[in-house]
Amino acid sequence: MPQARITSAILAELCSITGQDAVTTDHEALLLYGQDETEDLVFEPEVVVKPGTTQEVSAILALATHHRIPVTPRAGGTGLSGGALPVHGGILLSMERFNRILEIDERNLQAVVEPGVITQKLQEAVEELGLYYPPDPASRGSCHIGGNLAECAGGPHAVKYGVTKDYVLSLEAVLPNGEVFTTGARVLKNVSGYNLTQLIVGSEGTLAVITKVTLRLIPLPKHRKVVLVAFATLEDAAAAVVTIFQRGITPSALEFLERAAVKAAEERQGKRFPNSEAAAQLLIEVDGYHEEPLLEEIQVIAEAVEAHHAVDVLLAEDRAKVEEVWALRRGIGEAVKSISAYREEDTVVPRARLPELVSGTKRICDRHGLTTICYGHAGDGNVHINILKDTMDEQTWERVIDPAIRELFTFVVSLGGTISAEHGIGFSQKSYLPIALSPVELRLMREIKKLFDPAGILNPGKVFPD
Ligand code: LAC
Ligand code: ZN
Repeated sequence: MPQARITSAILAELCSITGQDAVTTDHEALLLYGQDETEDLVFEPEVVVKPGTTQEVSAILALATHHRIPVTPRAGGTGLSGGALPVHGGILLSMERFNRILEIDERNLQAVVEPGVITQKLQEAVEELGLYYPPDPASRGSCHIGGNLAECAGGPHAVKYGVTKDYVLSLEAVLPNGEVFTTGARVLKNVSGYNLTQLIVGSEGTLAVITKVTLRLIPLPKHRKVVLVAFATLEDAAAAVVTIFQRGITPSALEFLERAAVKAAEERQGKRFPNSEAAAQLLIEVDGYHEEPLLEEIQVIAEAVEAHHAVDVLLAEDRAKVEEVWALRRGIGEAVKSISAYREEDTVVPRARLPELVSGTKRICDRHGLTTICYGHAGDGNVHINILKDTMDEQTWERVIDPAIRELFTFVVSLGGTISAEHGIGFSQKSYLPIALSPVELRLMREIKKLFDPAGILNPGKVFPD
C-alpha cells in the first residue's frame, strides 16, 4: 500500500502542474471531497487537485507513482460503494473540470465527451437532436459520465437498453505511470485484440484515469407509457415480472417498489403515490417510435399481472403524471438514507429467481432482527436491499450486520446471482467479494491491477479484500 504523505515540496510540485487555484488543502474542501453518497463514511484526503487537461492528469499521476502517493479519482461523488472515498488519504483527483461535450456526431450516432459531464446534461443535449443516451442512474441530475463508466452504472432503462458498458466505444485514459493511451475505436464492432475499453469500464478507477469517452447513441423513442400495478404480496409482484417477459414484452423500465420504499419517498417529498398501502408495486414503462403498439403492449402487461393477482392497474395519463411517478421513484434512495443509518446492498439474480430473492431476503434479515427496504430494477433481477439500523442499538448492529450480509450474499450466489449489479464493490463491499468470485478470478484480477498500477497508487483500498 502506498504510504507516502503529502509534503510541502509535493504540494509545490502539484501547484506547478495545475496552477495554484486547482490545488486545495482547505479543511472544508477536504471534508466535502472526503465523502460520497455511501452511508455516512468520511475519509479526508490530504489535498484536492482539480486538473484541467489530460497532460496535467498525466503529470500528477507520474508524480504520485514516483513518490508512492495514493490517488483517488472522483467524478460526481454520487457513488454507493465508496469508490471515490480517499481511504488512504493522499491526492483526491477531482475530474470536475473535464465537463465538456466535445462532439455530437449525428451521422454516426456517437458523442465524444469528457468524464466530468453530468449524465442528464448529455442526455438533454442529445435529445434536442432526436437522439438518446439511455443509461440513467437515479442520480443522473448530478452524477458524471466518468463515474458512470467507473462503476458501469445501470438505472431503470437498462432492462431494455443495457448498462453504461454497452454504450462505450473508445476511451482516452492515463496510466498511473503517466502514459496516455486510447482504447477501442469509433466503430460498433471491434475484435482487434483484447477489449481494454470494457476492462476499464467497471474497474472503479483502479486501473487508469479516464479523460475522454466516445459513446454510442440511439434514436430517441418518442412515445412512452407508464403503468403502476399494485400487489398484495411481494412474491406476486416478483412473479409477475417473469410472466411479462414470457409474454413477449420487453418494457423500457420495470421497477419493483415495496410499500416501505414508496412510503419513504412520499414522506420525503411530501407527495402521494397511488396505492401506497399496497405491499408492493411494479412501475412498468414501455416506449417506442410509434404510439399504437404501446397500447397493445400495455394490454398484454395488464393480462400478465392479472394472472398474478394484481389488485390495481393504473395508467399514468399524461406526461406530468409520468414525470411525477419517476421523480418519486428516483427519490427513493435519498429518502431511505434519511430514515436511519443503513447498509445498501445491490443484489442481482436471474430474473426468474426474483420471488425467491425477495422472500429469502426477508427471511434472513428477520432472523437477524434487521429491517429491510427493498426496491429496484426487477426487470434486470436487480434488487437494492437497504438494511436499516433503525432503533437497533449500536452494539447489536455492529454484531449482526456483517454475518447477516454474508448470509444474504451467500444466498444470492446460490440463486445464480451476484453481489453487485450496478453500484460496484468499491470500499464498502470489498470484504464480501470472495463470496462471489473464485480464487482464480480474484488472482487474475489482482494481476491485472498490478500490470496497470505496479506501485499500487491508484484508488488503493478498493475492490480487493484486505
Ligand atoms: C436506485 C439507485 C440506488 O436505483 O441505484 O435508485
Ligand atoms: Zn438502482
